[in-house]
Amino acid sequence: MLKTTQAASGMLFFVFLIAHLINTWLAIGGELLYNEVQSSLRQVYQFPAVEIVILGALLVHISAGILRYFREPRRDLSVRAKWHRVTGVFLLLVIFGHIAALRAPSFFAGVYPEFAGVAFAIEYLPYVFIPYYVVLPLAGLYHGVNGLGIASRRLGIPVIPARWAVGWFMGGAAILSVAVVAQLAGVLAPISDPGESEFAEFALEFLGERP
Ligand code: HEM
Repeated sequence: MLKTTQAASGMLFFVFLIAHLINTWLAIGGELLYNEVQSSLRQVYQFPAVEIVILGALLVHISAGILRYFREPRRDLSVRAKWHRVTGVFLLLVIFGHIAALRAPSFFAGVYPEFAGVAFAIEYLPYVFIPYYVVLPLAGLYHGVNGLGIASRRLGIPVIPARWAVGWFMGGAAILSVAVVAQLAGVLAPISDPGESEFAEFALEFLGERP
């Protein structure tokens, strides 16, 4: 029952995750493309009923994962299962901060982060956010695609043969993620000053660094 719940909620969240990651990779095409795709997608994923389902699925998935970790402690994990656990723990440690930093400002104050908000984080704390924004999509993708394989077998829905998909997705995504961060840092092409964005103003005010 717990495994099925975890599989179903993971699959549901994966629909948002893959759209979200594709949106992130589109940053390669520039600020405008990233923002336009995000504002179109947002009409769907921030539609109240849809957002409740997405965040609800995430919470159910995390709760089932934590319960299973303590109820079924397994030590004899395969390499892929070990990485599944490592990426799951990493995502668990960062996901609530990610949502609080990037969703709360628009939810409470109508300030959307967009390209400039992510670029601002990289400019503000590069030693933290450069590795973070390279690792985050890779952890999300590995956990998502590998999990999709596990979930599809459990639910009896033939989705993708996970074995080859994981390798291909990860190789391509690693290159893309480095390129996206270079783009967000303004290394590949000039970008507008992230420090001048509405999100930066909001964040600096929140941190008490600007009146
Ligand atoms: C480099 C990678 C990522 C970047 C740049 C990024 C950026 C963002 C941004 C800008 C938002 C706000 C969206 C909006 O206002 O429309 C957001 C929201 C969110 N992100 Fe990410 N994200 C990344 C990876 C991930 C991963 C891997 C996950 C999950 C495992 C994730 C989960 C979420 C969730 C749940 C929200 C809130 C969605 C909502 O309720 O509107 N993100 N992210």
